[in-house]
Amino acid sequence: MASIKKVVFPVAGLGTRMLPATKVLPKEMLPVVDKPIIQYALEEAAAAGCEQFIFVTGRGKTIMEDHFDRAFELFSTLEKKRKESELRELTEGLPAAGEVIYTRQQEPRGLGHAVWCARHVVGDEPFGVMLVDDLIHSRTPCMQQLADAHARTGGNVLAIMEVPEEQTRRYGVVDPGSREDGLVEVRRLVEKPDPADAPSRLAVIGRYVLLPEIFRHLSAHQIGAGGEIQLTDAMERMIGSRPFHGLSFEGRRFDCGDKLGYLEAIIALALERPELGDGLRSILATYQR
Ligand code: G1P
Repeated sequence: MASIKKVVFPVAGLGTRMLPATKVLPKEMLPVVDKPIIQYALEEAAAAGCEQFIFVTGRGKTIMEDHFDRAFELFSTLEKKRKESELRELTEGLPAAGEVIYTRQQEPRGLGHAVWCARHVVGDEPFGVMLVDDLIHSRTPCMQQLADAHARTGGNVLAIMEVPEEQTRRYGVVDPGSREDGLVEVRRLVEKPDPADAPSRLAVIGRYVLLPEIFRHLSAHQIGAGGEIQLTDAMERMIGSRPFHGLSFEGRRFDCGDKLGYLEAIIALALERPELGDGLRSILATYQR
């Protein structure tokens, strides 16, 4: 099983699409059933063998540090009361001491800038990037699927999926070349193109394995779409020099940055829970038109 040891989580974003819920609470801390969105991402990375979880945070996000800390008052209370299953819930998915690293983006200058802020922590090795808004439910963790593909190609690998034509302006879009083994060669990348200019309907979803050369390209701080430093533009500059592929991953992706996507994630994951599925199914049946 191939693995990527370091994964970067850019989590400094303001979450304006979920106001007022995210006025004080970071969007990454919104619950899906009973776990914050960020925890799904961290568990996916851990299941894929990641050992260093690098958070690029911003002001107002310190609550995430507390979330991944040991809440010893809560632990000892639950222990005294012998609440075994709650204790298990609290300890599972908690990274060990020293595994989570926090750095700050300081200014909202775009995704490329956020990833660049992690350059000293990542150093000179291939690494993962996970955009937490994209919650991916799959048999094999999506990050694992990417790490396996990277082990085969030795290059950059992006998670991709087909989106409706009218949605290309929400994503980085791939100009696809040859296809082999579920991998699509990336010939060009365009950030948030209008449907008329989009090279395909293959959108980049928030999972990447990148070579450390990306930092050299990000250092140029070139301003792109939306006036921001785009990861897509820096990746574009690596095409041609190293293998570059998109992976049509197995699994279902929920866009938790969008209200409908977030609601769908809650329903889909709750339906799979033995203690909630049947009850929720009966409730949903009463809402059918
Ligand atoms: C970012 C990336 C975009 C990618 C998308 C996936 O956009 O810039 O290339 O397709 O994530 O969710 P954002 O959603 O941050 O606007």
